Amino acid sequence: MRHYWSHGEKPRRGAHDFLWALWRWSALGFVQPDGRGAPRDALAAIRPAAKRVIRGCRRLVPGGRPSAARLGFGYGTAPLANAWFERGMPVHRHYLEQFLASSAADIRGRCLEFQEDSYSTRFGGSRVSRVDILHKEPDPRYPQATLHADLTAANDIPGGAFDCIVCTYVLHVIPDLDRFVAELHRLLADGGVLLVAVPGITITYPQYGELWRFTCEGLHRVLARSFGAAHVETRPYGNSLTAAGELRGLAVDDFTRGEIDEHDARYPLLVCARAVKAGREGAR
Ligand SMILES: C[S@@+](CC[C@H](N)C(=O)[O-])C[C@H]1O[C@@H](n2cnc3c(N)ncnc32)[C@H](O)[C@@H]1O
Repeated sequence: MRHYWSHGEKPRRGAHDFLWALWRWSALGFVQPDGRGAPRDALAAIRPAAKRVIRGCRRLVPGGRPSAARLGFGYGTAPLANAWFERGMPVHRHYLEQFLASSAADIRGRCLEFQEDSYSTRFGGSRVSRVDILHKEPDPRYPQATLHADLTAANDIPGGAFDCIVCTYVLHVIPDLDRFVAELHRLLADGGVLLVAVPGITITYPQYGELWRFTCEGLHRVLARSFGAAHVETRPYGNSLTAAGELRGLAVDDFTRGEIDEHDARYPLLVCARAVKAGREGAR
């Protein structure tokens, strides 16, 4: 394809010349004034773009996936959905379950979980002897809570009471993180394990008093102040596609397995950590 400027011609003055130049620069500008070479040039010009479009369409075929919702990914400023589970399993919850499944052996004995006991029960199974559900304050929506306490203030929960604390989506609403984490450390028995999941690159819900977003490094520092750096491991979940997808309202089924399972530390949608309370006999 030869463009106006690539002919070495000087731009000519006048509206006609300007419009003609624009035309030649435009997508259809490969058509020469005398029609010479137009079909071949045209094909050569559009072939790479056509290949990309065909490749994209193949991926939209069911089975070849991902879903048709991906078509709307780049259009409009509003997300396709922003309500919980509106389009299926939210990507961050899928990652959270992946993390808990990989840490299932730690969920054992007496456990503590916030708001609900669903994760301890599901991933701990028969290893769990008892689950306490903690809420900061009594809330009629969560009548199953067994403990009410502000863990950033004095409370009467005995230290060393738990073998495992499942602390998912809690730290990002806590103003005094150091005090809270120190309290989690106190509540754990020696060798007990704290499993944490916090948001990285995700939607913010101001109505829930959200304060923080985390990186692996940031979460590691926060936990290391109480647990010691050697006893904390962090793990990023997500990549630029799934992080952007969740922001745009896509759910797990909108991605291929390969897309979901790639984790890029530069784009953590979810940040998880395992921290062990080192006891007198050392951490397990
Ligand atoms: C967003 S909910 C956690 C939800 C659930 N774990 C999940 O994965 O979606 C936050 C929980 O932290 C508790 N919480 C907030 N501030 C607290 C505090 N200072 N002390 C103890 N619990 C607190 C709330 O009562 C609530 O149960």
